[in-house]
Order: sequence, then structure tokens, then C-alpha cells
Amino acid sequence: MRTLEWEDNKLKLIDQTKLPDELTYVYCETYQEVITAIKDMIVRGAPAIGVSAAFGMALAELAGENMDDVAVEMKSARPTAVNLMWAVDRVMASENALEEALKMFQEDIDTNKAIGKYGSEIVDGGDTLLTHCNAGALACVDYGTALGVFRAAHEDGKKIKVICDETRPRGQGASLSVWEMQQENIPVKLIPDVASGYLMSKGLIDKVVIGADRVAHDGIANKIGSFMVALAAKRFDIPFYVAAPFSTFDKDISIFDTEIEERAAEEVTHYGGSRICPKGTEVINPAFDIVPKDLITGVITEKGIIDLNSIENFEDLF
Ligand code: MRU
Repeated sequence: MRTLEWEDNKLKLIDQTKLPDELTYVYCETYQEVITAIKDMIVRGAPAIGVSAAFGMALAELAGENMDDVAVEMKSARPTAVNLMWAVDRVMASENALEEALKMFQEDIDTNKAIGKYGSEIVDGGDTLLTHCNAGALACVDYGTALGVFRAAHEDGKKIKVICDETRPRGQGASLSVWEMQQENIPVKLIPDVASGYLMSKGLIDKVVIGADRVAHDGIANKIGSFMVALAAKRFDIPFYVAAPFSTFDKDISIFDTEIEERAAEEVTHYGGSRICPKGTEVINPAFDIVPKDLITGVITEKGIIDLNSIENFEDLF
């Protein structure tokens, strides 16, 4: 399965807003269509956003657009996942946008497989592993980061069970992660977000593995709800891992300065198309969370597992 592909000079995307019921595709022929697909979350997940943006830049170059202007527009599609800025900057520094995008496409798959290889080492046969949101193949070109760890452990013959947080308000855990695990025949159960602390207290979770939209020297940003999961894991001494490629690393900022995307109120006021609160209710809807490094056991990267708490000079990693 490829979340995105370059086909006949178009960017082909799985329409993630239609999963799990329909596996359908959207074709982007202009860079503006790519920006819309990122904003509307037809494609979502940090690495998938990055590589899609690179192909969007390629469409702009082929159309003879002003690349400096397009770069600014493209970077503003969603603010939190640093892969978007990384991908646009990388294309801008290259000779040929399409060649660079195709390189990034293949690198993403190779990187995730390497993350899976290192990640499988922390998984024991019989583990029950909790994840939050979707850091799977659907969040990347293929294979996934957190779910790539589960895939690799499963391929290594380890008998694992996966628990997916539903991930309100948009439900990426329910609609995407559960679906991906079912495609792989990996045993999976869905829980409401509010249940993970209870399950941990009962000894029903061995490890947590999530993805990231940004990794900085002092912590990570990931889907809203990640902080509460990390706090609960700390309370019960459950290892809490983050799986992320170096394209998600940001050496320039403190994680607490990350711009957190605020999304539409309707994501919270409505469920399955129906309003669940009084008309006109005011909403706060931050899409991402910050997990400080002291709650993180390790960051599983394509180069190995990093303990942010014991690194003396973060910049040396680059
Ligand atoms: O809002 P989304 O669905 O783009 O958020 C996705 C996440 O938070 C993922 O966990 C993160 O991007 C890592 S994907 C490998």
C-alpha cells in the first residue's frame, strides 16, 4: 500500500477522510490542489505531509510558478509538522523539484523500515502495545513509524497485541490505525481515549509507542492527547517510546515554542455529522500536544534509539 504516489505527472493520494469504509484516491494536478489536500487532511501525518508537499513543489515547478511564493504558501498549509518545512526547504535547495521529491519518496520507505528494525528490539513477544493517533503507513509513504515498529515486530515473529486510542476529535486511531493493523492481521483492539490510564493501572499495557510531528532537544509534539498518555505511562512505569525519522527533528527551537494548530470547532461540537452540544458552544480545539523529554523513554529513529534525557549536545546528532 502506498499512501501517495507520483503517477502520470499527478500526485495520487489515498483519500484518508473516506477510510475505513472506502479506499478511494484523489489526484492533484496543481500545487494548489496539494495544499487543499493537506489542509483538508485527505493526506495527513508528518512524513506524508512532507513528501506530498515535495510533489506539490514539483507540480509548481512543472507549471512554471514562482517557486519562492509557492514555498511560502506550501509551508503555511499546516503549522505543526516540521516535515512540511523540511521538505519544502529541501526541494528549494535542489536542482530539480521532481527528482528531489522522488528521492524523498523512496527515502521515506527505507527510513521507516530502519525505524522498524530498531524499534522491534524494544518489543518482547507477548507485549501489548498502546498507540495514539495514526503514525502508520497512512501517515508516511508506506510502512509507518510507530506502526512500522509493530509491523517489524510482527514480521520478526513476535506475538504482539495492539491497542489503539480512538483519538478524538478526528478519530485517526479508530479509522486509520485499527484498519492498518487489521490489514496486517495484527491483533488489535480499540479503546476510547479516556480508557488508557485505566488499562495501564490494570497492567494491561506493556509499552507505548507513538509518532511525532516534531522532535526537539527538550521533547516532542504529537497528536493532542499524547501528553496525558505519557503522564499515565510515567505513573505506572510503562516505557513510553516515540518513533520518528530525522526529517521530524528540529534543532532550532524549544518544543514548547512549537506552533500548535488550532482546528475547526465543528470537529468537537459534532460527532458523525450530528451536533453533540448546545448550538453556539465555544470550543478550544488544539490539534497537537507537547510531551516533555522527562516522560519519554526513547526516540526510535532510523539511526538507532536516542534518549533525549542523556544527550549533551542535541546539535551533534545532525
Ligand atoms: O493531524 P494528523 O492526523 O496529521 O496528526 C498525525 C500525528 O499526530 C502523527 O502521530 C504524527 O504526524 C506522526 S506520523 C508518522
